[in-house]
Amino acid sequence: MICVQQDSLFSSPLSAKNEKRNMEAIANGLILLMLSVGHAELWIMLINRTHALKIPDARLKRLRHVLELLMVLFPIVLFASVGLYHPGVLAGGKWSQLPFWWQPILLLCALGFLGLMFSGVRHLFYRPPRQQTAGESELIHLRERLNQDLIGEGPYHYLAGLPFNEIFSVEFTRKTFQLPRLPERWEGLTILHLSDFHYSGTLKREYFIELCRIAQATKPDLIIFAGDLIDRMECLDWLEETLGPMQAPLGRFFILGNHDWHQESLQIRQALRESGWIDLTAKPVRLQHEGHTLFMAGTEAPWMGELQEVKLSEGNAADDFLLLVSHTPDNFHWAEREGYDLVLSGHTHGGQVRVPPVGPIFAPSLHGTRYTSGTFARGSTLLHVSRGVSGIHPLRWFCRPEISLLTLRSADKK
Ligand SMILES: [Fe+2]
Repeated sequence: MICVQQDSLFSSPLSAKNEKRNMEAIANGLILLMLSVGHAELWIMLINRTHALKIPDARLKRLRHVLELLMVLFPIVLFASVGLYHPGVLAGGKWSQLPFWWQPILLLCALGFLGLMFSGVRHLFYRPPRQQTAGESELIHLRERLNQDLIGEGPYHYLAGLPFNEIFSVEFTRKTFQLPRLPERWEGLTILHLSDFHYSGTLKREYFIELCRIAQATKPDLIIFAGDLIDRMECLDWLEETLGPMQAPLGRFFILGNHDWHQESLQIRQALRESGWIDLTAKPVRLQHEGHTLFMAGTEAPWMGELQEVKLSEGNAADDFLLLVSHTPDNFHWAEREGYDLVLSGHTHGGQVRVPPVGPIFAPSLHGTRYTSGTFARGSTLLHVSRGVSGIHPLRWFCRPEISLLTLRSADKK
C-alpha cells in the first residue's frame, strides 16, 4: 500500500506530462491533416475552374496530373518537415518556431480547408428555391430491369464495376416549377430535360435505349438535350436507337457540350439534325404555342460560339417566355441579366462522386461546386442543372444519374 502511494507520488507528474505531449502530438497531427486537405482543396479549386474554360483536353490532363502529384507529395513533405523535423510539432516542437516561409503556405492551406467546409455546409443546407413547388423521384435499376451486363469495352470500363457504383441506378426526377411569367394557357407544360449521355462504349447501347424508352413513355410536350452526347465517335450510330426515335409535340431541341467539342462536333451536330433534332445554337427558335411565344436559345459557350450571339433580339414581345439551354451552368448569371425565365444545364454531373457529408468535390465550373445539380433562382430566372446520365469516367458514388421531367405552372398551385 505504501509502495503504491510512493509510485503515484513520483510517477504521476511524469505520466501526466507524457499524456499531455501525446495529446498535443495527436492534435498537431490532426492540424497537419486538415492543412493537407486544405492544400488539396486549393488545387481542386484550380482544377474545377480550369476545366470550366476552353482549354484543350490534353493540356487539362497534363495540368491535372501535375496537381494530383502535388496533392500526394505535399502531405509527405508537411508531416516530415513541420511534423518531425523543424519545428517537429509531432515530437514536442512548438508552432511558434515555424520557419517564416511556411507561414503563408499554411495560411493558404487553412483557407482552403475553410473553403471546403463552407462548400460542405452549403451542400448540407441546400434546399430548392420556392419556385420549385413539388419534386419526387423514381429509381430505375437498369441492370436488373434489363437483366444483362451493361458494361462494355469503352475507356475506364473497369470503374463501372466498382462496388457501390450507382451508374446503373438512374433517378427519374419529376419537378414542378412555378413561373409567374408562364402564360396561363401553358399550365402544366412538360419538358423532358436530358443531358450528358457521353456515349463511349463503356456503358452499352442497351442502357441508353432503355433510358430513352422510359423517358419517352412520359409523353413530354418538349424535349431538351443539354449537351455532351459523345466521347467516342464510333458510337455516333447509337443515335438511331436512342435519341433518334424520341418525339414531342413541341419538338426536340439540342445543344452540344465540351466533350462533343473534343470530338468531331460538326459530325455530331449533323447526325442529330438528320435524326430530327433541332439545333438551338444555329439560331434561336420562336415557337408559337396556344397563342403565346416560347423563345428558345442555346449556348455552348465558352467552348463553341459566343454568349453575345444568344443575346435577346429586339423582336421579343414583353410577354414572350424565354428559355435558355446552356451546357454549363456558369452562364446562369449572364442569363439572369438577359432576362431569361428558365435555364436548363448539365455539364457538372452533380460532382459524380460525393463525399459525405461534404458533398461534391470536383465540378468543372467557375463557381466550383455551387451549381453541381438541382434548382437555383436568381432574380426572376430559374436554373435547373441535371446530374446527367453518364460521364467519361463511369463512376457515381452518392450521385445517381438523372433524367428529369419538369412541369411548368403559372399560378400558385401544386
Ligand atoms: Fe458531361
